[in-house]
Amino acid sequence: MQFLKERLPLAEFSAHLRKPLPKHINLLFSLGSLAMFLLLLQAATGAFLALYYSPSPEHAHNAVTYISEEVPFGAFVRGLHHWGASAMVIIVFLHLLRVVLYSSYKAPREFTWIFGVLLLLIVLGFGFTGYLLPWDEKAYWATVVGVEIASTAPILGDFVAKVMRGGTEIGAVTLSRFYALHTIWLPWLAFGLVAVHLFFVRYYGSSGTPQNTSEEMKTGKPFYPDQVFEDVVGMLILFVILAVVALSIPVPLEDVADPTNADYDPRPEWYFLFLFQLLKYFQGPFEVIGTFVIPTVGMVLLLLLPFLDRSERAVLWKRPVALTVTTVSVGGIVLLTILGASSPKLNTQDTPQLTEQTQDATTPNTETEEVEDGEEVFDFQLTEEEVEGTAEDEEVFDFQLTEEELQ
Ligand code: HEM
Repeated sequence: MQFLKERLPLAEFSAHLRKPLPKHINLLFSLGSLAMFLLLLQAATGAFLALYYSPSPEHAHNAVTYISEEVPFGAFVRGLHHWGASAMVIIVFLHLLRVVLYSSYKAPREFTWIFGVLLLLIVLGFGFTGYLLPWDEKAYWATVVGVEIASTAPILGDFVAKVMRGGTEIGAVTLSRFYALHTIWLPWLAFGLVAVHLFFVRYYGSSGTPQNTSEEMKTGKPFYPDQVFEDVVGMLILFVILAVVALSIPVPLEDVADPTNADYDPRPEWYFLFLFQLLKYFQGPFEVIGTFVIPTVGMVLLLLLPFLDRSERAVLWKRPVALTVTTVSVGGIVLLTILGASSPKLNTQDTPQLTEQTQDATTPNTETEEVEDGEEVFDFQLTEEEVEGTAEDEEVFDFQLTEEELQ
């Protein structure tokens, strides 16, 4: 200890951690720590899943089946990862609402807010890229629709869609790309952004609630050990809930993706349902309003919120404009999600352009060169016949079960 004390600023660090928080801090102030805990849990469970997963259309579905049915604790770890992703979206959203409730985004915490919104996008990015990885029907078709939605963006849309797919259709390269994004790019970005977010949180200190007088800002409980203890209890409770859910509700896995199954009704993960539902109200030339304009304008307004809302700091119900905007936005998202979840199908007739594109994507791309002239075509994009051919000759992983073995 003496050795470390002589070399590191341990006393200053300990004094910093023991600094008192504002007086009126409640349980809602643990939501940020819970989000951080979930990020770590996702990283840990994901690291174990990656030991068995294989990001190729020939192996992905088998690998996921093997994890769920054969690997010791595989179904549990997969369950934690799957339900943990949903919990992450809920907790981050509640954390955002807490920040809005107490107007904690106001000066000087604008940067904390901006990095928070970027983290929200990263969390959604994890959800979108992870959805494809099991390579089952819903994974494949939801990604077809997701990428088509991206392609409707003006100017850069086609380019973005092509980069996402790694070619002209969803296939081996897409899966590699989504896997790389999900396991390398997004985690690095997430941990980097969390580090900056937390730096700002500590730098400005907790905002507390608006009812704090300036004296009360420094007379609450210390961050360590009191707040840390409460946060850890919250993490344990959250973990127990997730563990119970993971043990009792199996993670769904549909049949292996079939790009020729034009009858499949694509459906995204529940937290994208509101966007999916929104599409149904804008058809033909207005489609871009649902796919691009509303989501982009919404995100930009969210990002700029601290600069747009210049009112005095107060709790949400004392800010009528902010209260109305928040209620309408949250109510709208919840309503669209419920409508999306209760509609039996994506009524493909409602979104003619998407339907057309979706059906295009069902044509096996055996003549990739003909699809778009002059376009770079990846050599290793296999045709259906090639996939079937290679699967037989190829070295087969031990964990590849035959259909009979699975049954
Ligand atoms: C992975 C996602 C996130 C993590 C891990 C995270 C983590 C944290 C933590 C640990 C705190 C301090 C404790 C607390 O106030 O709850 C905090 C505060 C804060 N977060 Fe986040 N956060 C995330 C996402 C967001 C989002 C989406 C927003 C808003 C758009 C946001 C905005 C803020 C703000 C403004 C504060 C300062 C609150 C204050 O001083 O009272 N964060 N965050």
